[in-house]
Amino acid sequence: MEIRFKKVNFKYKGLSDITHALKEVSLTINHKNEFIAVVGQTGSGKSTLVQLMNGLLIPDSGTVDVFGFKLPPKRRQKINQLRQEVGLVFQFPEYQLFEETVIKDIMFGPKNFKKTAKDAETRALEAAKMVGLEGDILKSSPFKISGGQMRRAAIAGILAMDPRVLVLDEPTRGLDPQGRTEMMELFREIHENTKKTIILITHDMDLVSEYARRVIVLKDGEVVFDGKKEELFEDPNFKSYHLSLPTPLKILKYLEEECGIIYKPQYTYDDLIKYLKEGKK
Ligand SMILES: Nc1ncnc2c1ncn2[C@@H]1O[C@H](COP(=O)(O)OP(=O)(O)OP(=O)(O)O)[C@@H](O)[C@H]1O
Ligand SMILES: [Mg+2]
Repeated sequence: MEIRFKKVNFKYKGLSDITHALKEVSLTINHKNEFIAVVGQTGSGKSTLVQLMNGLLIPDSGTVDVFGFKLPPKRRQKINQLRQEVGLVFQFPEYQLFEETVIKDIMFGPKNFKKTAKDAETRALEAAKMVGLEGDILKSSPFKISGGQMRRAAIAGILAMDPRVLVLDEPTRGLDPQGRTEMMELFREIHENTKKTIILITHDMDLVSEYARRVIVLKDGEVVFDGKKEELFEDPNFKSYHLSLPTPLKILKYLEEECGIIYKPQYTYDDLIKYLKEGKK
């Protein structure tokens, strides 16, 4: 099962101006076993791209096929279902919390998608546990918990709907370094346990390097690269994408130039250290 974009164009139409946010975008994403990073400068179209995946936005031309469901939709097709299948966690999802208690908030999605209250609660409890929220905190007001916990609650609300794929728009933005690692490890765990595809929008190339396997690069609304991360960082056009290199690769390039240590790409800090230690022997 796939999400397939074919020559998709999307324009934001304001009163006086039009922004051509996505141009002729074609790509295919499998619902299993992919960990994809979507990167690109601010305003390049990343958030627009993911909102087209669950029917929040509809293409102006071209088609998006989400697991057999076509956008623009045919007459009377209900696109609500798509919101459940493609779980989209927005930037600063904690702003969307609104219920009296954390658990009620997490239950909102499954209840809305016509699950019985009991079933919704079971799913909500499972999802809460997955993100590390348990016990009394579930009975607290979502506004009286920490920012990191709020974000976890919001993510649990999406997980409780058991989407086929999980789309995360800058989920680590504004978190401290430890919170960032914890959040990313959570996604890694969900991915490893369920094999669900994860699509991660981020500006943080260290996260791309450590977690993603495939990278989609957007530039001015166009897909300028779609492939393995290993290929991205060695791409001769890399400079033109206006991205920075991940720290381990920057260090390795420096060591090659300044100390003559042979450049062999390592994508995580741990692998970098292992590589350097081996070299010393
Ligand atoms: N609601 C909107 N109305 C009008 N223009 C918009 C709207 N949302 C986005 N745009 C414009 O569409 C283009 C793509 O925006 P988008 O939000 O998809 O970029 P992005 O890559 O997610 O950026 P960022 O990294 O800053 O989140 C930008 O030029 C932006 O100004
Ligand atoms: Mg964005």
